[in-house]
Amino acid sequence: MKFKRQIFGFMDLLRFKKMVPLRAKKLAEAPATPLPTSYRVDRTVKILHPGMQQAELTEIRQETPDMKTFTFRLSGKMMFRAGEYVTVGHKIGDSLASRPYAIASSPLTALEKGEISVGIKKAGFFSGWMFDNAKTGDKFFIGDPSGFFHYDGVRDRAVVAGIAGGSGVTPFLSMARAIAEGSEDFSLVLFYGARTEKDLAYKEELDKLCSDKFKVVYVLSDEKNEKYESGFVTAELVEKYAGKDVSVFMCGPQAMFDFADKEMAKLDLGGKYVRKESNCVAARDVAPTQYKLRVHIRDEVFEVNADARETLLTAMERAGLNVPAKCRAGGCGYCHSRLISGKYTIAGADKRRVADAKFGFIHPCCTYPDSDVELEVPAGEIPQ
Ligand code: FES
Repeated sequence: MKFKRQIFGFMDLLRFKKMVPLRAKKLAEAPATPLPTSYRVDRTVKILHPGMQQAELTEIRQETPDMKTFTFRLSGKMMFRAGEYVTVGHKIGDSLASRPYAIASSPLTALEKGEISVGIKKAGFFSGWMFDNAKTGDKFFIGDPSGFFHYDGVRDRAVVAGIAGGSGVTPFLSMARAIAEGSEDFSLVLFYGARTEKDLAYKEELDKLCSDKFKVVYVLSDEKNEKYESGFVTAELVEKYAGKDVSVFMCGPQAMFDFADKEMAKLDLGGKYVRKESNCVAARDVAPTQYKLRVHIRDEVFEVNADARETLLTAMERAGLNVPAKCRAGGCGYCHSRLISGKYTIAGADKRRVADAKFGFIHPCCTYPDSDVELEVPAGEIPQ
């Protein structure tokens, strides 16, 4: 109803008096159909940001001697960009453990079937446990799709040279699937490095996905085979198959980054055209020393052990505390917690925002204790 101010003030008062009967009349005229219980915008938000959800492990497939694909049925649909990762977690003994994994399946599969797959290499505590103990029917918790390791038409060049090592092939497999199904539109030349032919996971499927927009170049370091390139992924190789006008995406072990960094510098691409998917912070190589870690979560206080070799996040998870974690590499800021007291060392580069560092916030996922520590940590989202 429009309300136009009248020249004479008393006219406004008269109209105001009539508002109640007018409202009653409009209500009486309205259809008796109940209001919708949910709106389309809310349903879209739920798909875009599902939050931590329960998922059932429905399939395990052996890919190579030390790598398996795990497929999960989600509680609902999920929307993600090919190249993003999810946190997969489970209670293991007294620990509430989790780890981020790049999604290997296609965006459309998650949207239409409510299913995602991740490739896991047998290494470290959680991945090792998954590899040896997880079985179909088990329930896991899965976090929101996250990360920036995906194509961006504004930022990236039309051709992406992907450099993958080990399980680092999974985000590129998702990209290749997305290109094939039409949910991504760019050209990808994948340089996939492995020791020998039998270490190449997903080879059959990658070969099938090849098209005018997707090519794969296999590079073996420990085996001479005329079907493949040999050695490591060099600048020369990238130029030979993908040209110089490329964005380079890298995902793999640190040793691969160390080599590829030097090689890609030769192409002189400029910082914004080279992106790397960070690896989780690992244990540090120092003498084992035990400290006390006091953790405030809402109005509860916990005291747990913290080993100088492990991050504060690992110490909290080992004690079964439900605390936030996503990238485990210091980059996303999701685990951001307030340091009350204690000394610490940050693994690698300090990726905190300037204000966080100034006001005493740390990222427990990449922080090792150097003394007893007291922290205020936000509550985690894991459904209990
Ligand atoms: S989990 Fe991403 S910064 Fe700690």
